[in-house]
Amino acid sequence: MRRKLAAGNWKMNGTEATLSELAALQTPAEIDVLICPPNTLISRAASANDKIALGGQDCHRAQSGAHTGDISAEMLVDAGASYVLTGHSERRTDHGETNEIVAAKTRAAWSQNLVAVVCIGETLAEREAGTTLEVIAQQLAGSVPEDATAQNTVIAYEPVWAIGTGLVPTLEQIAEVHDFLRSELSKRFGAEIAEGIRLLYGGSVKPSNAESIFATSNVDGALVGGASLKADDFNGIISALASA
Ligand code: PGA
Repeated sequence: MRRKLAAGNWKMNGTEATLSELAALQTPAEIDVLICPPNTLISRAASANDKIALGGQDCHRAQSGAHTGDISAEMLVDAGASYVLTGHSERRTDHGETNEIVAAKTRAAWSQNLVAVVCIGETLAEREAGTTLEVIAQQLAGSVPEDATAQNTVIAYEPVWAIGTGLVPTLEQIAEVHDFLRSELSKRFGAEIAEGIRLLYGGSVKPSNAESIFATSNVDGALVGGASLKADDFNGIISALASA
């Protein structure tokens, strides 16, 4: 009943020339395909492939104002976005974003009817210290505001140590966190909302490991960095999800 979602995060990659990769993406009817390109490409991306959803990689918590270099949720919508990532670990690390800031950004996204893909995940030190579930619970509680629904929120579990490293948790570790997330969401928002919220895994997803990750408990799709940049790679992930 949850529609599966293959999401690509291009990070600070992509120029006009990269749009041909978007045009070559498959969009099977049974799943949603989302690309979060750099902001400079959002409106052109919409013309390159009108079957994929587009998203921002971040938005400011304020609607407008004196925030040089930032972008608002309203501007993302204006450019053609329907989603936005909030709390990606690179934003948390590079820009000091706390759970409180991420929650404010998530609210800003909702105020413009953007779907927020709220990202959470433990560091290697936290995993090794055995505090993964504790960290995840805190991030989930602090980054996802009260009014979350299945329509306005997607959660992406991205262990920081798996992002861009080629390291991937075991399927048991992924299942443990995803099952835990579903139960935490249920405690807070009730079973009906919790059952509808899509949970993505992210961190070194590739065509070669996608099938097994998508067969894992409570995994409703993926948030993909490096392997979303080339249509050949991302198409492999899209097909694996469509047939999961
Ligand atoms: P990766 O990045 O797929 O390159 O590991 C994932 C992400 O940061 O969303």
